[in-house]
Amino acid sequence: MRRKIVAGNWKMNLTFQQAKELALRLNTWVKTNKPVAEIIVAPTHLYLEQLNKDLANSHIIVASQNVSAMENGAYTGDVSAEQLLSIGTKMSIVGHSERRAYHHEQDKYIGKKITHLYEHGMSPILCVGEKLEDRDSGRHFDVVEEQITVALERQNVDDLKNLIVAYEPVWAIGTGKTASPDQAQEMHAFIRKTIGGQHGISVANSTSILYGGSVNAGNARDLFEQYDIDGALVGGASLKLDDFTTIISARK
Ligand code: PGA
Repeated sequence: MRRKIVAGNWKMNLTFQQAKELALRLNTWVKTNKPVAEIIVAPTHLYLEQLNKDLANSHIIVASQNVSAMENGAYTGDVSAEQLLSIGTKMSIVGHSERRAYHHEQDKYIGKKITHLYEHGMSPILCVGEKLEDRDSGRHFDVVEEQITVALERQNVDDLKNLIVAYEPVWAIGTGKTASPDQAQEMHAFIRKTIGGQHGISVANSTSILYGGSVNAGNARDLFEQYDIDGALVGGASLKLDDFTTIISARK
C-alpha cells in the first residue's frame, strides 16, 4: 500500500523554543483534525531527542535530516544511524540536494547511508531530482534514473517495502518555482517504473513518492490529484503552521 505522507523538512531553521512550539501546535491540530496523511517533521539533529519525547504517542513521526554513511568512529560532526536510533529516531532523509550540493554527497555514498538505516531497522526518505541544466538539456530522466539505481542497487528487496522517495527538482527548491502537476506526475511515474524494473512490482507499488520543491498552501491540491504523487516533502511552507496544515488537509 502506498502511504499518503506530508513531511516537513525544517532544515537549519527555528530555535529550539520555536521548533518545540511548532511541534506542539501541530500535534494539537492533528489530534483535532485527524488528517488522512501521515505526518513527518524533520528538525535539526539537536532537537530530535526532545521532540521524540514531546511527540511520543502522537501521529507525527520525527525524522532526521541526515545520517552518516559510516557505522561509527572518527567522523567529527557526523551522527550515525545507531546514535539516532538510541534516542528513538527511526527515519532519516538521505540525499537531499543541499547535502549533494554543499557536502558533495554522491549516489553510492547515499546508498551506504540507506544500508546503515536498514541494518538498524530504520527507514530512509531518499531524495532525488535533477538540476535546471539537466532538464534544459533533456537529461532529467537519465539523472533521476541514475540516482535511484545507484542508491538502491545494494539494498535488500525486503527492506525496500514501504520505501519513501522524494522527487525534488533542484530548480524548484526554495525558488518559488514548482514543477507543474504534469511534469511532476511524469517523473513520479518514471520513478515508480524504474523501481519496479529493478526491484519488482510489489516494491514499486508500495513505494510512496513525495513531490518536493516549493510546495505551498496554494499548489498542493493540484499536485496531490496526480496519480503517482503520494504526498509532499515541504521545506519553507512547513515552518508556518497554517500553511503546513493546509497542505496536510489537501492530501485526501
Ligand atoms: P522548499 O524545500 O519547499 O522550501 O522548496 C523543499 C525541500 O528542500 O525539501
